[in-house]
Amino acid sequence: MEQKTFGIGVVGLGVMGRNLALNIERNGFPLVVYNRDTTKMRHLVEGEGAGKNILGVETLEALVGNLERPRRIILMVSAGAAVDAIINQLMPLLSPGDILIDGGNSYFADTDRRAEQLMLNEIRYIGMGVSGGEEGALWGPSLMPGGQREAWESLAAVLRKVAAKAEDGAPCVAYIGPRGAGHYVKMVHNGIEYADMQLIAEIYDLLRRGLGLSNSELAEVFAEWNQGELRSYLVEITADILRKKDAETGKDMVDVILDEAEQKGTGKWTSQNALDLGAPVPTIHAALEGRILSSFKVRRVEASKHLRGPSNRYQGSREKLIASARDALFASKILAYAQGLELMRIASEAYQYDLQLGEIAGIWRAGCIIRASLLGDIMLAYRRRADLPNLLFDEVFREAIETRQSAMRTVLETSVQLGIPMLAVGASVAYLDSYRSAWLPANLIQAQRDYFGAHTYKRVDKQGVFHTDWT
Ligand code: 6PG
Repeated sequence: MEQKTFGIGVVGLGVMGRNLALNIERNGFPLVVYNRDTTKMRHLVEGEGAGKNILGVETLEALVGNLERPRRIILMVSAGAAVDAIINQLMPLLSPGDILIDGGNSYFADTDRRAEQLMLNEIRYIGMGVSGGEEGALWGPSLMPGGQREAWESLAAVLRKVAAKAEDGAPCVAYIGPRGAGHYVKMVHNGIEYADMQLIAEIYDLLRRGLGLSNSELAEVFAEWNQGELRSYLVEITADILRKKDAETGKDMVDVILDEAEQKGTGKWTSQNALDLGAPVPTIHAALEGRILSSFKVRRVEASKHLRGPSNRYQGSREKLIASARDALFASKILAYAQGLELMRIASEAYQYDLQLGEIAGIWRAGCIIRASLLGDIMLAYRRRADLPNLLFDEVFREAIETRQSAMRTVLETSVQLGIPMLAVGASVAYLDSYRSAWLPANLIQAQRDYFGAHTYKRVDKQGVFHTDWT
């Protein structure tokens, strides 16, 4: 029998698959690669993969035939029908114990379903969130694998090498939980990513329209913030983006980009799932609303001609507003992360994922899009108390919010006065105020429901369910 020397197979050589393959090989693991369109496979093995331990094959039979057992095959195909199609093609070729790893942005419920189906044939299935874009895939992504624990163990040595390393040297990968837990966590990562991006964009807007800062001044502000507690990939690239010139026109790149935000859907899934689970994530919802409203460009241009508002220009101290904006961004960001983490806590119970939130914060410290120095502190908060109901109950974060909440309120108030929209900052402030309110006006809502629909209510002074004849 021919000696099988390849430990890993990669199916799907789009930019993410190809870069992940190069990363795996660079870390000392020979691999077999396949792509339905063979030109992409050739491009890799004859281009950047030339002379390396990468075998390109033209059929799935050849891929499977060249792998050691248990076979470990990473699928890097588009989420949705393509994943089911490739699984169906591979199924007759696999043997019990083989491991399929879906490294795309699959919907977690699809991963739950696939994992259960494949288990019937004794094929092990890992749904792995991969974050960090193209560069991350090549040089070190944050990896969120979920599925059978023994399947993870058989992959751990490879994934630990391939993953990004946090500042303390820890690899940004950990076993997340059973079935679709890995893709669930990646989905929430993206919900937080949307919130983070929207918050940065709102602050940029306030400083741009409110203070009239130029792009180079804004770049300096963000670059300076990136030296402190706001240090994060998204703040860092914001400074870079604001400095970039358009090669064609010589103008600032950011000003030639149309102000319509697009989305592929993972952030929306977070919002939809949070609504299904009854978990409050207003800043994430607001980020989606921000993207949706931005896409109404034609309507907005039309409305801007006849719906007047106040002057956008701020008259107070520029330095003070910049300092408040920094604190408001940090506090709002903490509140967005707190929402995402509490959503995961609730989902962990609902789906029995047994998520370790401190560990998840730990593997988001490097490699992924939301990497931020804040995540190191979040990891420590969950080390202090693993069953923290919400980040706001941690002493360090309670204080962080308390000392910055007046800045957050000033920024929001200013934006309202100037007519500059702040959906996400506003949602963060309202989230904080709702969360810390022992009493909310929901009694009135219950009364209204009972009034018009006899929906009943509970009382504050005795047990039971009541109805009043209101008229
Ligand atoms: C990542 C990103 C990535 C995502 C893009 C685009 O973690 O590397 O989250 O997975 O696909 O950010 O997302 P939208 O098109 O929805 O903005």
